[in-house]
Order: sequence, then structure tokens, then C-alpha cells
Amino acid sequence: MLSAADNELLTRVGPGTPCGEMMRRYWMPVAAVKELTDEKPIKRVKILGEKLVLFRDGKGQYGLVQERCPHRHVSLYFGFCEDDGLRCAYHGWKFDTQGNCIEQPYERPNSPLMKQAKIKSYPVKLMCGLIFAYLGPDPVPLLPNYEILTRRDGTRNIVLLPEHHCNWLQCQENSHDPTHTFWLHAKLFERALKKRPPEEAKKWAPDLAYFGRPIEGIDFELCREPGWTGIRKVRTYGGDKPEKEHGHPAIFPNILIAPQAKYLTIHFRVPMDDEYTMIYWVEFLATDDGSIVNQKDEDIPFEKMDHPLQPDGEYELHTFVYQDQMAWETQGAIADRTTELLGASDRGLVMYRDLLRQNIRKVQEGRDPDGVVRDPVVNEMISFTFSKGQANFAKEMAAAK
Ligand code: FES
Ligand SMILES: [Fe+2]
Repeated sequence: MLSAADNELLTRVGPGTPCGEMMRRYWMPVAAVKELTDEKPIKRVKILGEKLVLFRDGKGQYGLVQERCPHRHVSLYFGFCEDDGLRCAYHGWKFDTQGNCIEQPYERPNSPLMKQAKIKSYPVKLMCGLIFAYLGPDPVPLLPNYEILTRRDGTRNIVLLPEHHCNWLQCQENSHDPTHTFWLHAKLFERALKKRPPEEAKKWAPDLAYFGRPIEGIDFELCREPGWTGIRKVRTYGGDKPEKEHGHPAIFPNILIAPQAKYLTIHFRVPMDDEYTMIYWVEFLATDDGSIVNQKDEDIPFEKMDHPLQPDGEYELHTFVYQDQMAWETQGAIADRTTELLGASDRGLVMYRDLLRQNIRKVQEGRDPDGVVRDPVVNEMISFTFSKGQANFAKEMAAAK
């Protein structure tokens, strides 16, 4: 249980809030490159309570700038993406990717209005078919080279999950909650699949069998590694296929690294504002023999999922994503932690909330929070270790058929 003040402290992410200031120290994905097309090289981006637009100019440069035109506040989303910038659709003021106003039709030449019209802009960088943004103060840290984004011995997919109508912390707390898998991802899944075509039940059978084993123990380990800090959760399963997992880490503050069947995945839970979260996944499939694959970043397939909530208030529940989304959204737009009843199985959440408080304090003291990367040697590649259990399980089941 948290006090109302603590719940506010850990959930609010707008400009000037303690948690929002801490979160601004990290690069976060705001789009997949493929979301900006030649016909429409612009996307509205809401992140950390700020309304922005991401656009690509005719020279291929990206800009992330405030959504509102400084003239009379029309949305720049409806503007024209031109060779050297973004032109407002109302009176034609034009801005480059750095937010400088470079044209003001109908104004006097050399008017001081041009300088005054500079708009807010944030640095962006491309990696692995994603566009990352940094909203914090200088000096800008390095964009971390997490191995799932940069290894060359495999192929990748990018998935944009449905927009989540809930505070970011509900999504991230879930990654410190190892017991939810039995009921949510095995039992509820089983029930949902009864209403689906039989091929789907077949496809998901290894996952159901994996998570349907009784959980007999859980452990948590605080990891401080070069390039990341996080909490590794480890489950011990009983039943007729007992196993102690190696575990996989949640990376502070808002990332999960997880094996998902044959894939290694990274999940970025990006706060849009206090009540909405966007989630990007990258799935990485390693080659069996370690051979290098030349998949260009611009060729990485991109998929956007639909929201599982139906008009009648029911959720589609036949995928892991939908099951988690139901759980996180039905906790409320901002879960009221003043009335929760935490038990022994929730101790991972308590560790994570402590880590959040510590890092909010660090930023208030003028220090970098955990996991901000500034050393290029550390950043050559930031690696993780994973449980192999799920992939092995799937292989064994396939072989037994
Ligand atoms: S409101 Fe944008 S140019 Fe006038
Ligand atoms: Fe889950």
C-alpha cells in the first residue's frame, strides 16, 4: 500500500514532476520508421505529457517539435512537410527540424518575430527501425546499444501494441510480478481459446503448458550491470516438468527483456501522459548457427495491433498482450495504490518502487539515474542473459508430436 502522495510521486510524468524529470533522462522510442510514409511523413506524438509532432523533411531529416504553431496555436500535424521543414497549414510559417522558424509569409523581412517564433524541439536518433527521442537536459546521454536492437546474428520484427489506457507504472510493475502468469496467461488463456478456432489452441499449446505448471517459488535479484540496472525475477516450477528458471530482467525504469517462445524481446513502456502508455516491442530471432543476417533497419517488418476492448465492454483475451492489457487497464487509469493489499508475492513490486524512489532522489540531487549510459566502451553492446526454458519447452513439444 502506498500513501496518496507516494502514488502521485511514482506515477505522474508531466514536465516538472519528480518522476517525469527522472524519466526524461532516458531515450525512449516514439515511432517506428515505417509509421512515417512518403504520403504522410508526420505523426502526432504524445510523450511524458507533452504534445509533439514527429516529421521527416524532404532531405530525410527527422524533427520532433511541439504540436502547436507559436503564431496562433494551430496544430502543426496538419502542416506541409517540405524539403527543409514543416509549414503550418494556417498562415504558412515554416520550421526546420531544430524548431527554428525559417519562413513567415506576410511578415516584414528581418522582423524580430522570426527569432521569437523558435519552437520547442527534441533530439531524435534512429536505431533498429525505431525513432528514439530524448526530452531531458544536456548533456544528452548515449542511446543505449541493447543487444536485441543491435546484434547482427538474426532478424527482427517491430510491434506497436494497442494504446494502453492506463498509467505507465501499471505496465512496468507487471514485469516484477512473476505469479500473474499462471492465472492470466494459462488459465484465462485456456478459457479464451475455447471460443477460438482450434488451430489457435494448437499454436499456443507450448505457452499454456509452460505457464500452466504450478509456481512453487519466486526470487528477485537486483542487478547492477554495465549499461543497465534492473530486477531479475526467477520462478521455480513444480509439476511433472519442474524447473528453476534462469530468469529475465526488467530494465530500470520502463523496459522489459523477455524470452517469448523462440524470440528474445525488448518491451519499451513509454508514458504518453499520466493515463496513457504506448508500448513498442522488438522481437529478435537469432540464427541457429550464429550466422550474420543482413536485415537492413528500414526493412524490419512493422505491425500495429488493434485494441482488444469491444464495444460491449468485453476484452478479446486470446493473446498475451490482450490478457495483460485487460489486467493493466482494469486497474484504473491510475491505479489507486492507497487501497491495494500487497502480499508476500508482491515483494518484487516493493523492490521496484524503492528503486524508483532512489532514482527520483538521485535526479533531484543533480545526478544521473541508474542505467543512463555515457561511456562509449560500455555502449559497444549492452548484453543480457535470458531463461532458455520457454524456447526449450516449445522445441520439446514440437519434437514429441
Ligand atoms: S497559426 Fe501557424 S502560421 Fe498562423
Ligand atoms: Fe503478463
